[in-house]
Amino acid sequence: MPVLRSIRERFARERPLDGVRVAACLQVTAETANMARTLLAGGAEAALCAANPLTTQDEVAAALVGEDHVPVLARRGEDVDTYARHVASLAEWGPGLTLDDGADLLVHIHERGGDVLEGCIGGVEETTTGLLRLRRLEADGRLACPVMAVNESRTERTFNDRYGTGQSALDGILRATNLLLAGRTLVLLGYGVTGKGIAQRARGAGAAVVVCEVDPLRALEARMDGFEVMPSLQAAEQGDLFVTVTGSRGVLRREHFERMKDGVVLANAGHFDVEIDLDALRQLASGPPREVLPLVEQYELDRRRLNLLARGRVVNLAAGEGHPAAAMDMSFANLALAVEHLLRHREELGPGVLAVPKEIDEEIARLKLESLGVEIDTLTPEQEEYLASWAGLARAAEPS
Ligand SMILES: NC(=O)c1ccc[n+]([C@@H]2O[C@H](COP(=O)([O-])OP(=O)(O)OC[C@H]3O[C@@H](n4cnc5c(N)ncnc54)[C@H](O)[C@@H]3O)[C@@H](O)[C@H]2O)c1
Repeated sequence: MPVLRSIRERFARERPLDGVRVAACLQVTAETANMARTLLAGGAEAALCAANPLTTQDEVAAALVGEDHVPVLARRGEDVDTYARHVASLAEWGPGLTLDDGADLLVHIHERGGDVLEGCIGGVEETTTGLLRLRRLEADGRLACPVMAVNESRTERTFNDRYGTGQSALDGILRATNLLLAGRTLVLLGYGVTGKGIAQRARGAGAAVVVCEVDPLRALEARMDGFEVMPSLQAAEQGDLFVTVTGSRGVLRREHFERMKDGVVLANAGHFDVEIDLDALRQLASGPPREVLPLVEQYELDRRRLNLLARGRVVNLAAGEGHPAAAMDMSFANLALAVEHLLRHREELGPGVLAVPKEIDEEIARLKLESLGVEIDTLTPEQEEYLASWAGLARAAEPS
């Protein structure tokens, strides 16, 4: 993670986070440990809980506690009550800043209110679903602090969502099933930034990709990108593998299950386990599911078998190792610089969901290019002047 490393080295020199309590509700993985160490290098006190009960790497949690003395409230496979208790305990620690992947911590702090909310300088959110929740909080007039929308910076969007999830969602599916993608029909529900990455990589592996969308622009884009587009009920009859990545709920539901072929595989790459309607699947099934492979549950419906991966939880994390470190490098570089920005500008920033400044995005891209050994051009003074001018024809050329 060369970009984060260079930020960590600067943080160690400048100590911009001195004495601030930073609480992170993130996936507890090796990459997140690097992030925690960056916060410590900047002078912060850090503590963690998991943003997903199934994705914690216990050995990483243990190393953070044992070697770095960072409290970690997380254990792989913890039940939902334990998960909620951990989030609540982290809030009681009274963080000055929060880092979220899904907004559970900051939303809890708002629900709790009181001194903990008053002490919160701001938050940073790293996924689409979290931002949706925080924008609803803002629309209700209840968001009490600034939140940086790291998820929407260009370096995060491109690396984490398109390249990171594009590759790692398929990796999780393949690890769990060992399917040969070539020759299969993959039905992708949701052609957003994340879905596009999955579609591109699945096509690269030889799958025929069918896209289902509710947004006409995105549907058109999918068509123009060369994918077949159709309603999900029609696609339900054709697919061998279904991947939901919409941020919505009940995207695959009873009427879809009723039309599916024998042996299909169902996976979710969206944030919450609500995209595949699990209640409907259980109700339709003739009995409880059979675990045919680790993380593959088989439901039998009228002699057809539907294989659900990772209980409908986010497949790249629950069945794989999440994003490759190179993708998380960009995300966590954004988080680290967003935390620094929040602290540096705490007097000027009011409550609201805020964009990550363009300068931060550019700085991260510059550091990444540097780590790749790639050099680029810069504008000449004439070009800068030309681009900054509003004048008409005269600016284009001297008349000859
Ligand atoms: N697995 C990961 O590591 C990972 C990474 C990034 C984002 N996410 C999650 O993936 C989800 C999508 O994120 P995104 O950034 O691509 O969002 P996005 O808003 O860019 O795209 C979502 C797309 O789904 C479409 N959609 C909504 N409801 C639909 C439905 N019923 N049927 C078909 N299409 C539908 C929308 O029109 C939109 O085009 C979110 O939950 C996000 O948090 C997961």
